Amino acid sequence: MKAIHRLALAVSLALPLSALAGEVEVLHWWTSGGEKRAADTLQRLVEEKGHTWKDFAVAGGGGEAAMTVLKTRAVSGNPPSAAQIKGPDIQEWGELGLLANLDNVAEQGKWDELLPKQVAKVMQYDDSYVAVPVNVHRVNWLWINPEVFEKAGAKPPKTLDEFWAAADKLKAAGFVPVAHGGQPWQDGTVFEDFVLSILGPEDYHKAFVELDEEVLTSDKMVQAFAALKKLREYIDPDAAGRDWNRATGMVIDGKAGMQIMGDWAKSEWTAANKVAGKDYLCVPFPGTQGSFAYNIDSLAMFKLNDEENRKAQEDLARTVLEPEFQQVFNQNKGSIPVRLDQDMSEFDSCAQKSMADFKEAAQGEGLQPSLAHGMAASSYVQGAVFDVVTNFFNDPNADPKQAAKQLAAAIQAVQ
Ligand code: GAL
Repeated sequence: MKAIHRLALAVSLALPLSALAGEVEVLHWWTSGGEKRAADTLQRLVEEKGHTWKDFAVAGGGGEAAMTVLKTRAVSGNPPSAAQIKGPDIQEWGELGLLANLDNVAEQGKWDELLPKQVAKVMQYDDSYVAVPVNVHRVNWLWINPEVFEKAGAKPPKTLDEFWAAADKLKAAGFVPVAHGGQPWQDGTVFEDFVLSILGPEDYHKAFVELDEEVLTSDKMVQAFAALKKLREYIDPDAAGRDWNRATGMVIDGKAGMQIMGDWAKSEWTAANKVAGKDYLCVPFPGTQGSFAYNIDSLAMFKLNDEENRKAQEDLARTVLEPEFQQVFNQNKGSIPVRLDQDMSEFDSCAQKSMADFKEAAQGEGLQPSLAHGMAASSYVQGAVFDVVTNFFNDPNADPKQAAKQLAAAIQAVQ
């Protein structure tokens, strides 16, 4: 081969990386110490493909602030390439005609085969992929500091009665029984766990997916509010406004005994070099063994004009479902891979339990979408529930029966 041809070949081989290098701007709210480590994995892998990563992180657990910023950007005709948009909200953005079609990437990557059917459906608008799922979080977990439990003579609870008994012991021993952050989405997360525990998965579904008025105002729903009220006795006076990761920090530092939170909390334990099953325990929220309230993070892609940026966006989507990303990201994030064929041997005991419980729950009614994390209903319904729950939780004189009625009325009003 002539030198000039060799040069041309070398240039053309090098080209795909540089010539089609684009920029991806990614909106997310993974800003806690542990979650940032997870987000950094995605950035690294995208950069390794030759693209530029523009981080668009908007702090605020649960993502409410991020969604507000996203709407402003979209309204001004300048959305990012990718944004963390989840559950039924994907349909709403799809209806606006703003989302890009990822069918080519999905076909090449055999997404239909890789993903659980239910998950694939949520990622599609009008039968085309418009988003890529990142992980599966479980919301109904209780995080325990075993050393604190031992000092207080408390036992990890399996039922709600055992939960209150453990909380009493922790309180008597001078610990904060439950580390909590008083923010609407955290109040909503805890409330959802009580609902799953007290109503069971089938009635949880009727309440939060079917929005069935009878179940929303039922005696059991009243009991769920009563449990939330009782929880007030076991949180500290500084809970108001506290971020979830600071609440996790209280359990890590041994000030508090437990936290009711989804498994992104594990990202903080991991970042603090703590070992699952030894330094901390994860148990299903009392009374919910067999159920799995899921929260699937996903990145929806916006239509772009620039071809290079479009290529970068497709590479981002491709990367997310690659085994390397699924492993490293989820080990840091606290979630489990969304690919059910993923080798779990390198994951910790909490993640392994989560995967086993996910598969078991998926066999029956146990697998349920999280309302507090935008999986079960529209953001309007979610917002209405948060309002009622937070007002109830912050009012020492609030009446559980009244609250259940308000819940049904508030949901009715936004439908
Ligand atoms: C959820 C999100 C998780 C985690 C959590 C706390 O809505 O799905 O990935 O970030 O909020 O911010």
